[in-house]
Amino acid sequence: YEFDTIIRGGTVATASDVFRSDVGIRDGRVVALGEGLRGARREIDATGKYVLPGGIDAHCHLDQPKAEGLAAAGSVMADDFFSGSRSAIFGGTTTIVPFAVQHRGTSVVAAVEDYHRRAAGKAYCDYSFHLIVSDPTERVLKEELPRLLTEGYTSVKVYMTYEAMRISDRQILDVLDVTRQHGALAMIHAENFECISWLTEKLEAEGKIAPRYHADSRPQAVEREATHRAIALSEVAEARLLIVHVSGGEAINEIRRGRERGVPIFAETCPQYLFLSEEDLDQPDFHGAKCICSPPPRDKGNQEIVWRGIEDGLFDIFSSDHAPYRFDEDGKLRHGRNAPFRKVANGIPGLETRAPLLFSEGFMAGRIDLCRFVALNSANAAKLYGLYPRKGTIAIGADADIAIWDPEQRVTIRNEMLHHNVDFTPYEGRTLQGWPMTVMVRGRIVCDYTERDGVLQGQLHGEAGYGEFLARGSSARDKKAEGQTLEAAWI
Ligand code: URP
Ligand code: ZN
Ligand code: ZN
Ligand code: ZN
Repeated sequence: YEFDTIIRGGTVATASDVFRSDVGIRDGRVVALGEGLRGARREIDATGKYVLPGGIDAHCHLDQPKAEGLAAAGSVMADDFFSGSRSAIFGGTTTIVPFAVQHRGTSVVAAVEDYHRRAAGKAYCDYSFHLIVSDPTERVLKEELPRLLTEGYTSVKVYMTYEAMRISDRQILDVLDVTRQHGALAMIHAENFECISWLTEKLEAEGKIAPRYHADSRPQAVEREATHRAIALSEVAEARLLIVHVSGGEAINEIRRGRERGVPIFAETCPQYLFLSEEDLDQPDFHGAKCICSPPPRDKGNQEIVWRGIEDGLFDIFSSDHAPYRFDEDGKLRHGRNAPFRKVANGIPGLETRAPLLFSEGFMAGRIDLCRFVALNSANAAKLYGLYPRKGTIAIGADADIAIWDPEQRVTIRNEMLHHNVDFTPYEGRTLQGWPMTVMVRGRIVCDYTERDGVLQGQLHGEAGYGEFLARGSSARDKKAEGQTLEAAWI
């Protein structure tokens, strides 16, 4: 046989093109594109389907140890690399990039070693790590980061808030200087710590402790100010910076203004800012805690503004910020149902629902075209985080990480159909148009679905440990990445 697999008769899309083509796969890679391919051990009929690059979820938290401050007060993450990657593939995502977290007083290298142990033998799909730096000591800046940034960990997240994680503006400049020197990308959680702690204390003194007050403790001004400051730091350090989990119009305005000045700013948003609002924090019996995340979901008007950023190219990255806390004593209810919002673990699950939500409500609903879907779902993350063109496209030489989407499939999201280990989804009951019915990682079908009585049944075919660690290259600007040949960039 010339091919291991031919995916026949589908509509293939990349971030730049949509075309009818068969896809010939051998040894885990795409080796032929064109109509009428012949000679494969196995054929997959993709007539009427979209054959798209597998998703890249470039912001998710898996198996992070309990940390005061980041994951509030000792809650346990419910997903590790096993359940997290399993959930990812069933949602059409074939690469995940969670975080190796440095806690204060410890080394970043030790954090990376720890995460390798946590991931080893567990992942169903390929994975890489961003670094989180919470203690940029001389040693971290002069030895650890320069080494790690050249060994395939080419992105670093820093926090402006959370007591245990935040670093000062001065320290952010130091980190930016190192990422700039190594062609890496800094990511920033932009919220003003002092404002949040002041507002939280004030709200608590007034007895306003219910989950819905979480939104009042971090109004848009808090995010706008920090976003503005982060952009200024990027400008001063002349370093590229990605603002993660942008929630609304005020931060978006800062990003637009920064870009107009020519500051190399990139932006990420997440499903929660398109589909949830502050009203979701206000539910009986403490259920609003399920939607506590930071920044908080805003109002409906801001959802529309975030959609505009999805449509017009403001956003580069669409990720889940999957932060898997169950609605139980180990997770969101760690301090009981009367706990102040301050003590509720921040974050919501979303690895499996991220791409289907954008496919349905973005592409199928006519807000974005298929190329923009591919850009947001995978290509841009591959480029910015140094995985392109091995990941993020369907091209000769690229890994055969492919999701075959059926636009006719109507699916009502139920937590029981999802494959994470969280006991709820904030999108329960939402009906979507289109679903990734067959998902392939490096040429191997890792999961697929059959339909029984109008209900999707997922079948797992992959095995834990098949997923490989990806050492990443430097962060490419879109233009540069487009001009790169496969040879130059990867092979
Ligand atoms: O609330 C959130 N976003 N939790 C996850 C941690 C982070 O800041 O991304
Ligand atoms: Zn964050
Ligand atoms: Zn996060
Ligand atoms: Zn099957």
